[in-house]
Amino acid sequence: MGHIEKLKKLPPEREKVETVKILRQLSKSSQSLGELKGIARTIPNQVMLINAVVLQEAKDSSEIENIITTQDELYKALASKGKQPAQVKEVINYRKAIFTGFELIKKQGFLRLKDIESIQKTITENNAGIRAMPGTVLKNDKTGEIVYTPPQEKDEILDLLSNFLEHFNVNHTDLHPLINLAILHYQFESIHPFYDGNGRTGRILNILYLIINDLLDIPILYLSSYINENKSNYYKYLNQVNRTDQWEDYILYMLKAVEETANYTINKIHRIKNLLEITIEKVKNEAPKIYRKELVELLFEQPYSKIEFVVEKLKVERKAASRYLKTLENIGILKSEKIGRENLYLNKKLIEILKH
Ligand SMILES: Nc1ncnc2c1ncn2[C@@H]1O[C@H](COP(=O)(O)OP(=O)(O)OP(=O)(O)O)[C@@H](O)[C@H]1O
Ligand SMILES: [Mg+2]
Repeated sequence: MGHIEKLKKLPPEREKVETVKILRQLSKSSQSLGELKGIARTIPNQVMLINAVVLQEAKDSSEIENIITTQDELYKALASKGKQPAQVKEVINYRKAIFTGFELIKKQGFLRLKDIESIQKTITENNAGIRAMPGTVLKNDKTGEIVYTPPQEKDEILDLLSNFLEHFNVNHTDLHPLINLAILHYQFESIHPFYDGNGRTGRILNILYLIINDLLDIPILYLSSYINENKSNYYKYLNQVNRTDQWEDYILYMLKAVEETANYTINKIHRIKNLLEITIEKVKNEAPKIYRKELVELLFEQPYSKIEFVVEKLKVERKAASRYLKTLENIGILKSEKIGRENLYLNKKLIEILKH
């Protein structure tokens, strides 16, 4: 019954991870992902795009861990300096961890064990590090039944992690990187190296892996929302690999997640791009005196804007910055909201797009 064997090192047997069904799904997933990469490149301001998608992911990924926050709370937290509620902080930390990982990949092109540790530490804000005490088991949330026992000894965990990293950083097989993505994600979750935050850390590793392999330039494909919506199958298929070494359903699931999420994100980017163009036109026509490309872009980088942001980005006086924001409110592009002592200016239409 249940899990008997020790977790195997990578790679798994090829016939199990490269079936006809998998190859068929792979071609759809990789096409969608390629399209996403191409469309992302047509957006002039990459920061704007990254900010928009990353915050949504931070929210969705934290939700799997039952940390529920609203978009509004998050944007306010990003724009204001006030003290934040604990769960908002967790989501903001997750976002920070994505950026930390992205910077590391850009700088060095690979990850070391200590990088993964620092990602996990940023997410959970604790110093426990790699598991050193036995006793961690994975249970079914509802029934409490133990579904899987990850390696217990620190030496074994470290050994499996070094095998994991070897394959994460370099493709030693000629399997397609999207198949490897699924395999690596399974492996990381099954090693379960930390006491907590393994899911969230693993989901960040997924996006970094896509970037390492040039499947994307920037971190804009996130599977958390898909996993949230198809959670029971996610656990079921992970389990199936643990118990029976049957990979097909699990890999198909992950490839499907990539395809659907890429399509969803493509659609979102189109809508953001449209709104950006409309907004530029509107400011040019209705407030030509204050029109500057960077000003409009700022409203898309920071959907909750404020005087300080304008001062910093456009290098203008507070007085001018305030006038710009007020003018934009007058022509119906922004809506102001008082939070504490600060005035925040919301790009409402963008926020609507980002929400869905
Ligand atoms: N049978 C299983 N085999 C391998 N990994 C599993 C299995 N069941 C669950 N997991 C992984 O464990 C993760 C949860 O671990 P943990 O609580 O440490 O992470 P988290 O980030 O705090 O939570 P969450 O992933 O729920 O947001 C799940 O996201 C999943 O990836
Ligand atoms: Mg947890």
